[in-house]
Order: sequence, then C-alpha cells, then structure tokens
Amino acid sequence: MGDVDEGNLKFLRGLRAVREFTPEPVDEASLKEILEVGRWTSTGGNRQGTEVVVVRDRGTLQKFAEWGARPGGASAVSLLLVTGSEQGVLDEGRYAERLALAARACGLGSVIATLKNEGPAEAKKLLGIPEEKRAVVIVALGHTDREARKALPKQGPAARKPLEEFAHWDKF
Ligand SMILES: Cc1cc2nc3c(=O)[nH]c(=O)nc-3n(C[C@H](O)[C@H](O)[C@H](O)COP(=O)(O)O)c2cc1C
Repeated sequence: MGDVDEGNLKFLRGLRAVREFTPEPVDEASLKEILEVGRWTSTGGNRQGTEVVVVRDRGTLQKFAEWGARPGGASAVSLLLVTGSEQGVLDEGRYAERLALAARACGLGSVIATLKNEGPAEAKKLLGIPEEKRAVVIVALGHTDREARKALPKQGPAARKPLEEFAHWDKF
C-alpha cells in the first residue's frame, strides 16, 4: 500500500449533499479559493470548455429554484456551470465535484443540482449566456445550517450499495 492519508480519505468519503443553509453570506476569499480549485480541474485534451457564473443575486437564486434546481433558492451562492457543448458533460461533472469538494475544504456545505425543463434556456436568457452553450448544472453552496441537518433522518451505511454490489473485480 502507498502512504494512506486517512484524513484525506475521510474527507473524500464524507462529501454529502447539503441543502440546509444559514442566511450568512459566503465571503469572496472563500469563493476565490473554490473557483481556483475548479480552474485546476482536468478536462479531456485540456479543452477547459467549462466556465462558471457566480450567482449571489437572491432573485436569480430563487429563479433557479423555480426552474427545478431547488436548493439554489436556499443557498448563499450558486455556481452555474456553462459548458461549450454536450460533448463536455464528463468535464462538467468533474468541475461540479471539484467545486463541491473545494467548498467542503472551505468549511461550507454544497449540493449539485440541475435546472430542468425550460430552466437552462431561461437561465441563459437572464444571465446573458450564448444560446448555443449548455447551462444545466449548479453547485449551490453556503454555510451549513447544522441544527436543520441534525433534524434530518440519519443516512447510515444503507445509503449506499455495499461494496460487493458496487465493485466487480476483473469481470462484471
Ligand atoms: C449529477 C447530480 C445531480 C443532482 N441533482 C440534484 C438536484 O437537482 N436537486 C437536489 O436537491 N439534489 C441533487 N443532487 C444531490 C443528490 O440527490 C444526492 O447527492 C444523493 O441523494 C445522495 O445524497 P448524499 O450526497 O448526501 O449522500 C444531485 C447530485 C448529483 C451528483
């Protein structure tokens, strides 16, 4: 085995979807740290076809919620991923995960959510994003409302398939 960093493994395993946020704003220094991690995400052929719109305007966040990305409405900030085309969806997923992990590293909660139905088209119109771009995924983030989360049902190990069902060794 290589040098196992238990702390890092726990950090990676422990990323959960947080939808319960306090009204406290997220400071710009944290946002810049999160965006910097996102900027260093690898992409196929280093194409870097994904950009981010940092949305703090409460009216727009509420619109995100109405357009199906419900946790956006409660978040302090939502990062809308703007991708060159459908080809970039794997890159987009990686960006979303990295941004969520970076938010956790900054002590913030986050959840990945998607705009649905007319949401992407309306969001593009509202935010001046060119029509040919894909704008579906948001990473909603904010300070975790720990009291509200305590009140949620506990996830426990049953929240995921057991390893034997998830991983297949050498053959499916
Ligand atoms: C690609 C993707 C899309 C998601 N879309 C939404 C969404 O639109 N709304 C939402 O509330 N949560 C969304 N989630 C969060 C998942 O529901 C959540 O991660 C899952 O239920 C497991 O919970 P956990 O991450 O807390 O373990 C999304 C997660 C992923 C990875």
